[in-house]
Amino acid sequence: MGEIVDAQHQQTMPLLTPYKMGKFNLSHRLVMPPMTRQRSWNNIPQPHAAVYYSQRATKGGLIITEATVISEAARGYQDTPGIWSKEQVEAWKPIVDAVHAKGGFIFCQIWHVGRASTFEYQPNGQAPISSTSNVLKPQLQANAEEPAKFSPPRRLRTDEIPLVVNEYRLAARNAMEAGKYFK
Ligand SMILES: Cc1cc2nc3c(=O)[nH]c(=O)nc-3n(C[C@H](O)[C@H](O)[C@H](O)COP(=O)(O)O)c2cc1C
Repeated sequence: MGEIVDAQHQQTMPLLTPYKMGKFNLSHRLVMPPMTRQRSWNNIPQPHAAVYYSQRATKGGLIITEATVISEAARGYQDTPGIWSKEQVEAWKPIVDAVHAKGGFIFCQIWHVGRASTFEYQPNGQAPISSTSNVLKPQLQANAEEPAKFSPPRRLRTDEIPLVVNEYRLAARNAMEAGKYFK
């Protein structure tokens, strides 16, 4: 009898049934997707993010953070959080802790914007890096009245690509350090 009821329940409410995702036992299938917030002043995650994410955490639920830049050159939008420096890693810890305190899981979305950037966001005002030297067409942004204009990018040399891959590797390590923690 119980089995029949459960089977019916699963048919009608699959979103609320558990899901084993690798080593993570999610208690339901509603995942909060990454949503850029632009409230991490100077790329440092802020204490208010702990409130924001813990408010949205559920026991056994998964949250994916707002896109988080892996380096200075990875930036293309104002005040997005980073995860390349010690200060940023320390700033992430209480945020991740707050989600874990509610029994939730949180993954860090690590990000490089490529050519979707401008000289102003780049170290020493250099050209944004990309796989191409073709400039992106202006794009309307959710938070801007004028379309965002992008700077002409510099196409990476093949031997420079591993440097970016390495930045991703370090950012992933930093996320693991912040979260012993992001999980
Ligand atoms: C305000 C806002 C910010 C977003 N920021 C990100 C982001 O940082 N990274 C990302 O991969 N997707 C981002 N997205 C896309 C959402 O993850 C996406 O809308 C969500 O997964 C639902 O998918 P759908 O819009 O195709 O229905 C953003 C969407 C919105 C509305």
